[in-house]
Amino acid sequence: MDSNAYVIVTQGLGRRFGATVAVAGIDLQVAKGEVFGLLGHNGAGKTTTVRLLNGVLTPSMGSARVLGMDPSTEGPRLRRRTGVLTETPGLTDKLTARENLTLFAEMYEVPRDRLTRRVGDLLALFGLEERADEPVGGYSRGMRQRLAIARALLHDPEIVFLDEPTAGLDPVASRQVHELIARLTQEERRTIVLCTHNLLEAQRLCSRVAVLARGAIVAMGTPRELARRLAQSSRLTLEVAPEDEAIARAAIEDLGGAQMEATTPGAMVVTGIDRERVPKLVAVLAQAGVRVYRVSPHEPTLEDAYFDLQPESEVTV
Ligand SMILES: Nc1ncnc2c1ncn2[C@@H]1O[C@H](COP(=O)(O)OP(=O)(O)O)[C@@H](O)[C@H]1O
Ligand SMILES: [Mg+2]
Repeated sequence: MDSNAYVIVTQGLGRRFGATVAVAGIDLQVAKGEVFGLLGHNGAGKTTTVRLLNGVLTPSMGSARVLGMDPSTEGPRLRRRTGVLTETPGLTDKLTARENLTLFAEMYEVPRDRLTRRVGDLLALFGLEERADEPVGGYSRGMRQRLAIARALLHDPEIVFLDEPTAGLDPVASRQVHELIARLTQEERRTIVLCTHNLLEAQRLCSRVAVLARGAIVAMGTPRELARRLAQSSRLTLEVAPEDEAIARAAIEDLGGAQMEATTPGAMVVTGIDRERVPKLVAVLAQAGVRVYRVSPHEPTLEDAYFDLQPESEVTV
């Protein structure tokens, strides 16, 4: 890809806090229009990366270009073109949603003639119109979060950073936020960087994901690629004629490395046969005269991959 198509490029970007290495020299390339996920558990370095990319923190090593600018020297100019939902977005409880947005729009110098309309449009888009003139102190967590995302979009930024957008939300509110993000991502000119420790969220929303552990990128790719490449435990469902089950089991045992779990007569879940060995499995069963009705490998999920990547002791769910 033409290097101009990348809106974020980093080279060995890193940041230390005393003896703690928060970000350990990462190389990233994010193309315009991508929904790029930074996936990792608490302390992996996601927030620090976002702060480095917005020039809120200066790097201890390496460099970054964001929209062609150096965040560490051109922060204010850059931040006019990026929007950030931080982990703890401060909203003013005494003000209404409309007032909160208007205040920020003024700070971002959204032109007066456009401001009222922009605020109104965002309130409608985020389903907050009906209660737009109530103080946000009385809002639910989900409503507050939607308002905070709306605020990050006020100045129509080209890149939007969403740091843990559904943390602390109940499933219904999370789903609303997911739908909102999905809608935002349909506008191809906008790039989204989404930080999350939620695998399902990354899998649902992101076109590409970098998995961070202890500040380093341990894997990167589409959720599907990552799952394929990294999931060690592969599973498949097998259905054979019930009378042939015993022969099937013996044949599979001869293959080695497989575990079987019977479900209903003739049906079983087989683990330990990776994708490359599936044709061999089918051939062996056919040779043994087993009548095979169904062989369906389970698509590995990003979750399988994630657990394979994280040292056991660090995995928190
Ligand atoms: N301002 C700071 N001062 C000291 N340590 C920090 C600071 N910010 C982050 N860290 C440390 O850097 C590491 C990465 O933190 P962070 O980027 O917040 O991770 P994440 O967002 O993935 O949870 C953690 O060990 C954290 O304690
Ligand atoms: Mg964080």
